[in-house]
Amino acid sequence: MSSSQVIRHLIEELQSSATQEDDLYSDEKTRIELLGAAQGLVAALTRPDEAVASITHGAGRHMCLQVANDLGLFDLIVSKSRSAHEMASVTGANEKLIVRIMRMMVAIGFVEQSGDRVYSATPMTRLMTLPSVKAGVEHTLEGLDILQSTPEYLKKNGYHLPRTMTDTPFQFARKTELDNHKYYAEVRPETMKTFQVFMDGLYGGPARAPWWAWYPIEEVLSVDSEVAFVDVAGGNGHQTAGLLRAFPGTKGRLIVQDLPEVIQGIKVLDPRIERMSYDFLTPQPEAVKGARVFFLSNILHDHPDDVCHTILGNIRAAMTPGNSKILISDMIVPEIGPPLRQLDSDITMFFLSGGAERSPSEWTELIKTAGLKVSKFWYPPGDQNGIIEVEIA
Ligand SMILES: C[S@@+](CC[C@H](N)C(=O)[O-])C[C@H]1O[C@@H](n2cnc3c(N)ncnc32)[C@H](O)[C@@H]1O
Repeated sequence: MSSSQVIRHLIEELQSSATQEDDLYSDEKTRIELLGAAQGLVAALTRPDEAVASITHGAGRHMCLQVANDLGLFDLIVSKSRSAHEMASVTGANEKLIVRIMRMMVAIGFVEQSGDRVYSATPMTRLMTLPSVKAGVEHTLEGLDILQSTPEYLKKNGYHLPRTMTDTPFQFARKTELDNHKYYAEVRPETMKTFQVFMDGLYGGPARAPWWAWYPIEEVLSVDSEVAFVDVAGGNGHQTAGLLRAFPGTKGRLIVQDLPEVIQGIKVLDPRIERMSYDFLTPQPEAVKGARVFFLSNILHDHPDDVCHTILGNIRAAMTPGNSKILISDMIVPEIGPPLRQLDSDITMFFLSGGAERSPSEWTELIKTAGLKVSKFWYPPGDQNGIIEVEIA
């Protein structure tokens, strides 16, 4: 097919799907198919030189988001259109700087231009006012020096993948022997707090069904067990708290484990949820032995395979065969044609802590090597985390 035929074909594909009357955010499958077709169309229309320049200069957009957050620009226009002049007088920033930041925000759809140097809100603007989204912008920008050092790290180590938590691009860039999370907990506690706010809501994904809406957790937890749910490295406990809000009748103990600095920093948590300081590189304590569910959300993707084996091995030793399950909430990357969002996350995990987003075959191998077996892959409605259900082999 010639380029123009490809483009025509993609436009037809988009037009035929777009005539459906579905609410796109509630039909994740169609939305992701359309997004893929639209991205293919943009790629087909983009000249090669434009494609490279858009990537090599793209980091500036991230920086503009942070400046807009620092100046509170999204909050300023969320309920009322404002001119650059007004925004400059409220914030004290140079008006021409405001115009430059805002015209970038218009170009990427984060705000709308409703007049000459007048800006108003879009759904993106509203999202940008959420604390967890602001924290995500800040936290990811904070790590860009690590990204910058990664090619040098790979050159020096002969292009090998990290095998431990303390020999990753992070340690190379930050000149530390501490792993990523311990570094933030001990050396940059403020950044750790921002990170936990980020994890509380991630990017506040619109209409993303929580995992308990499509995984039968109520049924799993209906089996009597003294300890029902252990949220291993559960941060502020927001996942367990959400689960308890969804199923207030859940019986058995619910426990959130994390590093002491994180556990001590928890401000609000349902009193039914117990807090436990615990390092997942050490044996699980007696108190959680035989739990029905050990939950690992956004944990294994942070780490190289060898570290995952240690974490899983410690859980395995605390499991009761036939009763305990591990539920892993992480991306399940399609073997063919994975979405860009998952690949961006894969590379971010790699440079931040030597981790990876994994495909079904990679999950199966990782779990098998730890003496466990995948009993089922549960796929989410869209491209967010799935649930990998694991039992003793
Ligand atoms: C990516 S966050 C995931 C938090 C939570 N499970 C969620 O899904 O929002 C990783 C968590 O692992 C915790 N962590 C890192 N190293 C740890 C360790 N050695 N032992 C226990 N928790 C650890 C961090 O403090 C952080 O809360």
